[in-house]
Amino acid sequence: MTRDFLEVDALTPDRLGALLEQARAWKRDPGAVPAALARKGVALLFEKPSARTRSSTEMAVVGLGGHPIYIRPDEVGLGVRESVEDVARTLAGYCAIIAARVFDHATLEAMAAAVEVPVVNLLSDRAHPCQALADVLTLRERLGSLDGRRVVFVGDGNNVAASLAFASALCGIELTVASPPGYELDDDVVDRARNLGGTVEVAIDPYEAVKGADAVYTDVWTSMGQEAEADARRAAFRGYQVDADLMTAAGDQAVFLHCLPAHRGEEVSAEVIDGPTSLVWQQAANRMDAVRALLADLAAGGGA
Ligand code: CP
Ligand code: NVA
Repeated sequence: MTRDFLEVDALTPDRLGALLEQARAWKRDPGAVPAALARKGVALLFEKPSARTRSSTEMAVVGLGGHPIYIRPDEVGLGVRESVEDVARTLAGYCAIIAARVFDHATLEAMAAAVEVPVVNLLSDRAHPCQALADVLTLRERLGSLDGRRVVFVGDGNNVAASLAFASALCGIELTVASPPGYELDDDVVDRARNLGGTVEVAIDPYEAVKGADAVYTDVWTSMGQEAEADARRAAFRGYQVDADLMTAAGDQAVFLHCLPAHRGEEVSAEVIDGPTSLVWQQAANRMDAVRALLADLAAGGGA
């Protein structure tokens, strides 16, 4: 049993289903949210920028009656002034949960190994599991049952796609990830998602892949920390923009998702992200509902 949430496969299908139902219930009735974190602190350590993750997690902690402590790595000298493990041990003395956005996933693993309190991944180079919770919450709101639904991720088989693969596997979503050669979803992620019972395919041609999809999802071509590769990536991903033609190829039933931040004119056209099929603002707002359900569960001692 893990008390940590470093990737979506820390959950079982039942526990993910319960979190989604809890998130929906509290979204409908915010007055029912319990003070699950009363008199408790939650450390929020960010090595990278954030608009959604920091704010949604802070508000979720406040909603649960807790106190969020936002910490930049230079404030604590993460790995410089003292080791990652010593920072984590210190924060665990004051906080019921440690949540962190890091460059290297191994930093989260080191924190988790050093402390007894749950460690939550707020994005690493490998995974973005809190995003994936909001993604499947948004799809659940829109589509009802997710079993057998088809989602096509077009773009970089990176952290967001990986967590989506695990969330899809646990929800019964059939996921295809269409990427240019060299930017595919990792074989290890595909294998692990399939071992969970998921239907995960990788593809090269986005037009073939999206046909009949219930949702088309994309993410930035250049993730945080990869800025030096931006020109090469722009060239590699040409032809992978989610534009009106691609959404037409998907069909009228397809909705559009994006974790944000978005770059209109790169991975998505303005017409699509600002158009009627786009669920991106509902998806962004759902970050708070999803992480609130997760934090309450962790505070109550929930484990996968
Ligand atoms: N989607 C997401 O994680 O956004 P931020 O980087 O702004 O937190
Ligand atoms: N793949 C992106 C997601 C941002 C939320 C990144 O890591 O920068």
